Amino acid sequence: MQNEKILVLDFGGQYNQLIARRVRECNVYCEVHPYNMPIEKIKAFNPKGIIFTGGPNSVFGDDAPLADKELFTLGYPILGICYGCQTVAYLNGGEVSHADKREYGKTIVDVDNNSKLFKGVSPKTQVWMSHTDFVSKTPAGYKVVAKTPSCPVSAMENVEKKIYAVQFHPEVNHSIEGMKMLKNFVYDICECKGDWIMSDFVKTTVDAIKAKVGNGKVLCALSGGVDSSVAAVLLSKAVGEQLTCVFVDHGLLRKNEGDEVEAVFGPKGPYKLNFIRVNAQERFYAKLKGVTEPERKRKIIGEEFIRVFEEEAKKIGSVDYLVQGTIYPDVIESGLGKSATIKSHHNVGGLPSVVDFREIIEPLRLLFKDEVRKVGLELGIPDYLVYRQPFPGPGLGIRIIGEVTKEKVKIVQDADYIYREEIAKAGVDKSCNLGQYFAALTNMQSVGVMGDERTYDYAIALRAVETSDFMTADWARIPYDVLDTISRRIVNEVRGVNRVLLDCTSKPPATIEFE
Ligand code: XMP
Repeated sequence: MQNEKILVLDFGGQYNQLIARRVRECNVYCEVHPYNMPIEKIKAFNPKGIIFTGGPNSVFGDDAPLADKELFTLGYPILGICYGCQTVAYLNGGEVSHADKREYGKTIVDVDNNSKLFKGVSPKTQVWMSHTDFVSKTPAGYKVVAKTPSCPVSAMENVEKKIYAVQFHPEVNHSIEGMKMLKNFVYDICECKGDWIMSDFVKTTVDAIKAKVGNGKVLCALSGGVDSSVAAVLLSKAVGEQLTCVFVDHGLLRKNEGDEVEAVFGPKGPYKLNFIRVNAQERFYAKLKGVTEPERKRKIIGEEFIRVFEEEAKKIGSVDYLVQGTIYPDVIESGLGKSATIKSHHNVGGLPSVVDFREIIEPLRLLFKDEVRKVGLELGIPDYLVYRQPFPGPGLGIRIIGEVTKEKVKIVQDADYIYREEIAKAGVDKSCNLGQYFAALTNMQSVGVMGDERTYDYAIALRAVETSDFMTADWARIPYDVLDTISRRIVNEVRGVNRVLLDCTSKPPATIEFE
């Protein structure tokens, strides 16, 4: 297992998790903690180096989050990014100024290749800038190692103290050689060797679970999503038949999905685990009858899910461990507190209070999504499950605007199936960089004509977005000919649909899902 750790101190920047993922892509383990993590805890964490993230504040602001000055005296290599860079300057006696205009977007910087941070980087390289404040004077002992005409201190360093700071964002793709810079920091400046490797993770985790569980009984709520599937297979590798997986089919899954999950995890699949499929479709439809308000639908589905699971768990009796597919982004504590709840997410997080168990096992607690996928592949889980796009807990329930009925579920399932099939056939999921795409059923009926008959049927909305973090998303430009095929097939093959609409809204202001 890994010995080397990088600490990412979060000053509230939107790219905090991306920075951590990039470090891990360098095969170096890292964790994100709030900017005000106490010095004693930092010492106990024993990082090989520290990265300060960006953030929305100005160092002059009354409530500006600032690092503890002592951090600069402890000998840890430090890399400040954007606001983190300004923090380094400000706290060490440099000057930070406020620009009249925000600098935002792709910029070419001149870098000094003598700096360890820019080893192997082109002398003129494209980076992503996004700031209003900038460092106008470096602190004593710091040297400018990158500049642009409008940002004279695009990067600075204090070689002796191993402190580096960049005004731009090396972690985003638009910074073409950003990964090289992060690698230079992690390997050449922090002197990491790269000991965070997925195959090691599988072996150590399986061994640790075996040692912990012994002869105990383990229960897992399996949704068929990537996280719970990978968690279940890890557990099954470790404890085999001591594991029972409960899969609740709430009737709001994509077409054939319930059977696909059963084919992999059920008695005919490759894993020797006890698999219980609960066909609770009718129960969910009954509860949802007449309900139109999105938050109520979400709550009803979440609560009913817990109820069904509870009933199954009671039949099994008490268990020793409950498995949860929690992943690292769920665990990270933000640097600047919580944001507003836009939607109440339904996950299996509500389960513990209803099941009699001794302890929770969260084998993926330290992993990002892409790492969970690597583990999944390592474990031999089929590609289509590992690369499955995200699917919300309340399922199609929030992709049917208004009341959910069995008939509407069938319509949206069939339309969505055609959509996915044609996207795959045209290969545009990769070429258009689709993060998520699905069909939704608008609650709107409109007039059409089919043959010589008047129709009055539903409109299907096609949603497709490009996104890497699901926090912001741009609507994807799927080629017209592909959309044309999808639209024709849906109106021809799906009964009850006579119109197909394209959702061309980004997030914000829309969200990815409709409800
Ligand atoms: P929104 O619609 O908020 O969705 O832009 C962002 C991402 O979250 C997924 N999503 C959910 N995932 N439980 C989940 O596990 C939920 O209740 C839920 N609601 C939305 C959504 O599919 C998208 O990937």
